[in-house]
Amino acid sequence: MPRLFSRLLAPAVLALGATLPALAQEVNLYTHREPGLIKPLLDRFTAETGVKVNVVFAANGLAERIQSEGERSAADLLLSVDVATLTHAVSLGITQPVKTPALEKAVPANLRAADGSWWAMSMRARAFYVSKDRVKDAALTYEDLADPRFKGRVCLRDGLHAYNTSMIAAAIANMGDVKAEEWLKGVRANLSKKPSGGDRDVAKDIASGSCDIGPSNTYYMGLMNRDPNQKAWADAVRVVLPTFRNGGGTHVNISGIVFAKHMKNRDQAIRLVEWLVSPAAQKLYAAQNFEYPVVGGVEPDAYTLSLGALKPDSLSLETVGANRKKASELVDKVGFNLGPQS
Ligand SMILES: [Fe+2]
Repeated sequence: MPRLFSRLLAPAVLALGATLPALAQEVNLYTHREPGLIKPLLDRFTAETGVKVNVVFAANGLAERIQSEGERSAADLLLSVDVATLTHAVSLGITQPVKTPALEKAVPANLRAADGSWWAMSMRARAFYVSKDRVKDAALTYEDLADPRFKGRVCLRDGLHAYNTSMIAAAIANMGDVKAEEWLKGVRANLSKKPSGGDRDVAKDIASGSCDIGPSNTYYMGLMNRDPNQKAWADAVRVVLPTFRNGGGTHVNISGIVFAKHMKNRDQAIRLVEWLVSPAAQKLYAAQNFEYPVVGGVEPDAYTLSLGALKPDSLSLETVGANRKKASELVDKVGFNLGPQS
């Protein structure tokens, strides 16, 4: 069917292509994800549908670029990581809400904007890396990070990094303002040093013995594991998928997609996004990044599965997003980034 569709359209494109870009069998994807990680997936989409995907990659700033390009922007879609980046794009006014029955059926309600402004394509969990030798707990809660038994043993990256503000925003939603503040003060009191480095440094520091536990995203385990220079860090740690004491699950963030306000290839853009949430594409996409599929019933790859069974927090990521400002204010208020002592 796709091939037939493509053939039927071909003469029209040849004759009118210059004036009818909406009929072109292509879609323009701006992305903050490494092209190498998504290329196999996009190649498969093209092979199955005949629709070419033109990729514009940059490490950051693509929402601002689309904004400055204005109506002339070639962008049909922006694929990025972290709900903060997606809601930032929405706040810049460069997106448009799109809803289709297939997308609404595939993507759980807590992993998409209610109005269709953004859609999750994969999940990553904010786990704890713990020392295999020095931490024996099989299960832990986020609240445990403030437990006095971990005094001087907690390490993590900057409290104002999006990964941590999203986790703290989820803590505020799950614990309430007062308890969340007490909790963050307790985590600060447990720090082994000032927050610094990246998520992989939690594993590195645990491997060197300078801390025993810290929050880090799950997929870095997969990335360290396949890097000969970092494998020893991964080997030193065990992953625990923490939950909230009120019965909440593990805090997850996402990679996700927005439709550009001035997209020219609407039909093909929708086709690509709907294809990305098909079971086969979900499996491939999640496996390439060591992430979790968002679509129910699709299993992550064997390595990610080996890290434990994920029970994602049911909190809407819109609520997490709405609490992020409060979370960064709380980080400042408790002097989190000053480290264990003021
Ligand atoms: Fe990351």
